[in-house]
Amino acid sequence: MRFGHFDDDQREYVINQPETPLPWINYLGCEAYFGLISNTGGGYSFYRDARLRRLTRYRYNHAPFDFGGRYLYIRDNATGEFWSPSWQPTRTKLEKYECRHGMGYTIIGSTCKKIEAQTCYFVPLGETLEIWKFRVTNRRKKPAKLSVFSSIEFCLWDAQDDATNFQRNFSTGQVEVVDGVIYHKTEYRERRNHFAYFACSNKLAGFDTQRDTFLGAYRSWDNPVAVEQGKSFNSIAHGWAPHGSHHVKVTLKPGETKEINFVLGYHENPTDQKFDPPDSQTINKQTVKPVMAKYLDGQNVTAAFEKLRRYWGNLLGIYQVRSPDIHVNRMVNIWNAYQCMATFNMSRSASFYESGIGRGLGFRDSNQDLLGFVHMVPSRARERILDLTATQLQTGGAFHQYQPLTKRGNHDLGSNFNDDPHWLIIGVSAYLKETGDWGILDEKVQFENEAGSEQPLYEHLRRSFQYTLERLGPHGLPLIGRADWNDCLNLNCFSNTPGQSFQTTTNKDGKVAESVFIAGLFILAAKELAKIAARRGLKKDADRYLAEADKMEQVILRHGWDGAWFVRAYDDFGRPVGSKICEEGKIFIEPQGMCIMAGVGLKDGKARRALASVNQYLATKHGIVLQQPAFSKYYVHLGEISSYPPGYKENAGIFCHNNPWIIIAETMTGNGGRAFDYYTRINPSARENIGEIHRCEPYVFAQMVAGKDAPTHGEAKNSWLTGTAAWTYFTATQWILGIRAEYEGLRMDPVIPARWKGFTVTRRFRGNTYIVEVKNPKAKQRGVKRLRVDGKEIAGNLLPACPPRSDPIRVEALLEG
Ligand code: BGC
Ligand code: NOJ
Repeated sequence: MRFGHFDDDQREYVINQPETPLPWINYLGCEAYFGLISNTGGGYSFYRDARLRRLTRYRYNHAPFDFGGRYLYIRDNATGEFWSPSWQPTRTKLEKYECRHGMGYTIIGSTCKKIEAQTCYFVPLGETLEIWKFRVTNRRKKPAKLSVFSSIEFCLWDAQDDATNFQRNFSTGQVEVVDGVIYHKTEYRERRNHFAYFACSNKLAGFDTQRDTFLGAYRSWDNPVAVEQGKSFNSIAHGWAPHGSHHVKVTLKPGETKEINFVLGYHENPTDQKFDPPDSQTINKQTVKPVMAKYLDGQNVTAAFEKLRRYWGNLLGIYQVRSPDIHVNRMVNIWNAYQCMATFNMSRSASFYESGIGRGLGFRDSNQDLLGFVHMVPSRARERILDLTATQLQTGGAFHQYQPLTKRGNHDLGSNFNDDPHWLIIGVSAYLKETGDWGILDEKVQFENEAGSEQPLYEHLRRSFQYTLERLGPHGLPLIGRADWNDCLNLNCFSNTPGQSFQTTTNKDGKVAESVFIAGLFILAAKELAKIAARRGLKKDADRYLAEADKMEQVILRHGWDGAWFVRAYDDFGRPVGSKICEEGKIFIEPQGMCIMAGVGLKDGKARRALASVNQYLATKHGIVLQQPAFSKYYVHLGEISSYPPGYKENAGIFCHNNPWIIIAETMTGNGGRAFDYYTRINPSARENIGEIHRCEPYVFAQMVAGKDAPTHGEAKNSWLTGTAAWTYFTATQWILGIRAEYEGLRMDPVIPARWKGFTVTRRFRGNTYIVEVKNPKAKQRGVKRLRVDGKEIAGNLLPACPPRSDPIRVEALLEG
């Protein structure tokens, strides 16, 4: 069952009924000011940091699920009837409804009682504000006298404190209302120099800033007393809950349309110019007025919207494919790339499943996010790499997370996730391959954000590598620490206390439990580092990295191979995890993908054997589950993984993030058909028709789909913020379509289903545009045998990077097996 459709020409997903199985959301803003917006206008906004600079309030896990947002009301002043043009919060039956989620904007349109309304929400590039461009049209035969009310609830900045510290917060709220603009200035009088404002382009009939005056006692947003009575109270919030509501009266002739623009923004004043007059407690509004005036003007709004559309057209234009598969085309060309921007910006902090208060930017997550983002805005990728690097510890370890506002490592969570350091090497290598910006390796970066500790980035990478060598366990495999990629495999935790964090509790000495997954990742990273070192002329370093990688490969073959697949780990008692001798959890997905990606088992058939086991035990029609059999009870020595009911999350859920590792492994063994099949199983667009089962948005990947042990097999959860975005994008573009960025140039190595007759990719790369036409007349899955560049045949399948030229480089690749 579908709840909408893709409009690929407009790069939009169109939802045609408000009651989607779950809120289907979009992100506004892609630089510093961000908003989340659902298909019924729900969501919230923040500046840079979803926890520390939350502008508007939202209530998670509420009933209805989506509660709080950018709400509007229309009231028919002749009858007193009122409704919300975005359906929520009044949930009045609408004659027509349509939500278009696009690239950085959302348009919600509806008709109710023959009054047509449309609101376009977006954040102009370069600004710290959002616009709600509202149009209302009278489709009646008679004139209509309407009232339009806006409504947002201000958050008192720190979302965590806002949701808990009521004894204080009910007394701190402050606002100003001047010239119809509502200013939210809680704590501005003392240590903050920022405030929020909510402005409206039209003359006001009134306003409200005290939530409970607007709503009325014992009422909620579905029937605010102000809207019901058609009059605002001009309330000024003193404490309690600062709120923003404008009231505009509109009279429309039959067929007439009117427009109202609302601007909600964040603004900072220089600390010595906070007040006007200087010795007052009144906000200095001189600095914000020009911005506000600009975006209350309809023409500027239209221009800003067009600019945003062009911006995305240009970004997406970096990689465009025309393949025989519609789901590949729209995910690669539009939605998957777009999701990569969201994960790059948010990491795992703010979605409808991540509350924006719990998690900052994750070290391993952000490094992996680069794989899908680095080609879009390399300068931002560069900055991110340097920020992440600055949180690395002297030991080569890393703070597991940092807060984006302060860019400091999070001490509560600390470090000792022993896979973390290697992802830095993977992230930097992706950046180098895309950009050829070798200079970044000489950038001096601090350790632990400490002045004076600066070392070149290359030295940081070297320490990442060294970190593992200094932490090997009894079998010579890397010690796992608190956890590796799988946050829930906690082999040093042994927790029997309710509420204790599986991730931060370590009550074993950590000298026994080892990870085969990290061993694979170590090899993968060491091989990249060797290439980087060789390129810098550091042959001795390169040789050493390779020698250690070889050694680790031998250790895996000796202690990490279980006969038909790779073992997952060794526990604190030195017993294997993810082995046929285990009671449950005999086979895990992660080491199969990671070891093969690192090249282990490619020559001796072990890779193919392991992939056959994955197919046999782990693959389902909805994707590949994380392990089998699922853990049916709690194993104290394994930790959080066995705390989930079977089939969910890390306990045998389809954890989509690691499916691409298997897909890449399949391409490495030349199995284009199976790689593509696996890709299609998790591709949300290909799952659109089973919307009632999948339930999450069909235009973005979700972190998890319930596995075969779950009663809700096939149900997705935790959409948007997941490493799946970057890995699927990277896999589809670089391994299936096979147009791969390498240090020296672009590799042409498609591994596709035999039935594909070919495809075309346009790719901008280091200043050139390549138009690559791949032909597959003999129904092969792999094997570029002939490569023509501008009509001339070249040897091999690598196009060496060359100086930028103005016309496109035309490439023809023939697959002959
Ligand atoms: C989740 C993991 C997540 C971790 C983050 C766990 O509860 O299952 O997916 O990585 O929390 O702290
Ligand atoms: C989600 C986390 O963000 C990520 O870091 C982790 O690798 C996966 N969960 C698996 O546990």
